[in-house]
This record gives sequence, structure tokens and C-alpha cells, in this order.
Amino acid sequence: MGNFITFPKNFVWGCAASSYQVEGAWDSDGKGASIWDTFVHEPGHIYNNETGDTAVDHYHRLLEDVALMKDIRLNAYRFSIAWTRILPSGQGTINRAGLDFYDRLVDALLKNSIQPYACLFHWDLPQALQDKGGWPNRDTASAFAEYAHVVTERLSDRVKVWMTHNEPWVAAMAGYFSGEHAPGIKNIPAAFKALHHLLLSHGLAYEAIHSSARQSVKVGLTLNLNPVHPNSESKKDRDAATRMDAVLNRSTLDPLFRGTTPIQEFSVGKFLFSSLIKNGDLEKIRALDLLGINYYSRTVAKYDSKFPIISATQVHPEGNEYSGMWEVYAEGIYELLMRIWHDYQPKCDIMITENGIPVPDGIDFDGRIRDERRIRYLRNHLAQVHRAMDKGVPVKGYFHWSLMDNFEWAHGFSQRFGLVYVDFKTQKRSLKDSASWYTRVIQDGGFEQ
Ligand code: FCB
Repeated sequence: MGNFITFPKNFVWGCAASSYQVEGAWDSDGKGASIWDTFVHEPGHIYNNETGDTAVDHYHRLLEDVALMKDIRLNAYRFSIAWTRILPSGQGTINRAGLDFYDRLVDALLKNSIQPYACLFHWDLPQALQDKGGWPNRDTASAFAEYAHVVTERLSDRVKVWMTHNEPWVAAMAGYFSGEHAPGIKNIPAAFKALHHLLLSHGLAYEAIHSSARQSVKVGLTLNLNPVHPNSESKKDRDAATRMDAVLNRSTLDPLFRGTTPIQEFSVGKFLFSSLIKNGDLEKIRALDLLGINYYSRTVAKYDSKFPIISATQVHPEGNEYSGMWEVYAEGIYELLMRIWHDYQPKCDIMITENGIPVPDGIDFDGRIRDERRIRYLRNHLAQVHRAMDKGVPVKGYFHWSLMDNFEWAHGFSQRFGLVYVDFKTQKRSLKDSASWYTRVIQDGGFEQ
């Protein structure tokens, strides 16, 4: 007999998704264009030039999708709000139809006893704001606070947990440094400016949400974090890993928890630090009721003089399991939780807000989707989360990425992350075996290891 891993009774079991990846209806009911709408319509950025124009049509199928959540027995759903549905130009005129859509979503969730976790920004910046400079422009941070205020006024009578940003590091670096994501800019100072303004906007929105909320609410943000390991024990590789960790992890954790930033440790950072970070900024950023952690993989780093700023690159060690996008490394989620707990001693709540695996699922002869690899991934990662909880890290919940297969950014529809299989041609939804496994875990409050 194995050992039954029991989670606390009030543990939050959820799934996560984001507006651009599921909604579709990209120009319906008064919605303005976002940088992702622009980016996908320019050929060459996305696998097969696919777009999220229709995505998985969640905009029109929200009741069906909430029914699926109910079938899975989720007690929480983390979704994001498309800024351009609410304020088509990013600021100023409000589009009531956009607010109405999220109103319907929140009502449907609550009717089914599913707690809404609303995230204000999952990368779909209004194109009108990008035209004024986007996140490298400090004014975007105040526009974000205005948007936060508008949405809070409408939804905070029912939504008790708010996330300002999803993965500001990725929004800044993939959007403005590597250019793999919208708006496709490749400019190192712009990327660091973007990161600072994203974090600053979190601080401003934190205040805006608390001051306009209709009840007592929690305001958090979600970070993508990954433990960094050196490729060898050589001093060069160990130093490379330390620099990589500063850029990948400490660049968001330090401002949020310590009111400091490691960017001045780098030459580009020293220059930026003096002109970019104004008096009082770091104090504003340090405001958090809930830390959301998105964990997918670790990073193995080696010294590489050619890579700008950090002289380090990522390598993929032989002999391990890989998925369609990353190495599978379950111990990393434990390592990360322990590190945050010890190094930062957070006083706020902690939750895993994303974790999942892209595997090429298919429908079997009898209609079932036997996604054994996802079940194994979930089991191993949840066991590691539990291990950290046993050591005293008070993790309050876990959100699987994702509810349904969806539009995976530059990978288009080539990567399936869902507990629910979606036929992208017909939009038919079918529960995978992993969905049934997750349901049992939720019902039993744990699983046999
Ligand atoms: C995260 C994103 C999410 C999804 C997963 C696979 O970085 O937050 O939108 O793309 O990766």
C-alpha cells in the first residue's frame, strides 16, 4: 500500500486560464485591439501563423465551460480580464459590454460555488497604449491603475481575490527583449524599463483595488519562478547560475519582498537604476496579500560570454524527461517553495497559480483521452508541493494550467495543456483522464502516492 497524501480541508483546488488564450471574439462587442491582436496578424510570429481570433471561443461558451469546471469539481477558477474589452483604448471611455461579459462569468462561477480569482493583466496590453510606448513608458503604470479601479468598482462586490499581473517578467522579457511575444520588440533597456513599470503598476493597482473595493479583498500577483542549477561545479558555471537567478527570480522577488532590486548588479542596470527607479517606487511595489507562483521547470545554466548582460545560457541536460516545451523536474517546485519561505519569509498567502505540462494528447479509439503523462506530472508535482507543506510552507491552493487546451502564444495550437481536450475545428470539449484524476483528488482531499 502506498502512502495517502492528504491536503488540508480548505485547500483551494482550481484551474487557470487567460483571456487571450481562450476567449476569441477578438473584435466583438466594442473590444479594442490588444498588442496580441496586432502581433498574431503579422505573419511569421506564431507557429503556422495561427491566431487567437477565435481561440477556444470561451467568450460564447462560458456557460458550457463553467459547467465543465463544475463537473471537475473545481472550487476556484483563475481567469484574466482583457483590458481592451473594458477600456478599448486603454484609458478613458469604458465599454460596458466588456464589463457585462465578466459579470456573467463571475455570476456563473459563483452560482456553481467556484471562487473567481481575477487577474487584471495576462499580457494583452491595449495597442493604443503600446502606440504611446507600452510598458517602457511610465505612464502605462498609471493607466493600469485607472483600469484596475474601473474593474474593481464593477466586480469587487463578488470577486474577493485579485491578481494584478501574470508573470511580469515574461511580459517584459519575451515582449521587449527576445521579441518572441507581443509587441515583438528587441531592446534590452526597453525590457528593463518595462519590468520596472510593470512592477510599479502592481503597486499602484494594489492601492487602487483596495481603495475602490466594495468589501475586504486580497490583492496579489503571480510570478514565473524557476530554480537555477549550474551545469557543472566549475566556478564559472556556478557564477553564471547566480547571475541567471538574479535576473530570472530575484528581479521580481526582491522588489516585492525586500524593497530592493538586483538590477544594479549588472552594468545595464546601473545605468537604468539611476534614471528609471524614482524615489518611492520600490516602497510602492512592496505590497502583496497573495503571492502566486507559476512553476513549470528548472533552468540549468552555463557560462557563455556571448550572452548579453548575464554571460550565461540555458542548457538541457541529457537523460531527463522533456515535454513539448520544457524539462520535467518535479523537485523544482519543492525547492522553490522552500527557498521563498526561507529567503523572503513572506507574510502573505502563497499559492501555486499555474503548473502543468504540454503533451500531444489524442482521442483514443473509444473516445477516451488517456493522458497518462499529465497524470504522472500532476501526481509528482502535487507530492512535492505537499512535501514543502509538511516542512511548514503554508501553501493555500493549487491551480492547474490549464482548464482546456488553448492558444499557447507563439506555439499557436501546437501545445495541449488542458484537463479538457478541445477539438480546435469544432470546439467540441471532452474531459481527459487527467480531469477525472483531478476530480478524485479534489473529492478525496488527496491521493495515494
Ligand atoms: C505561462 C503563462 C500561461 C501559459 C503557460 C504554459 O508562462 O502564464 O499563459 O502560456 O505558461
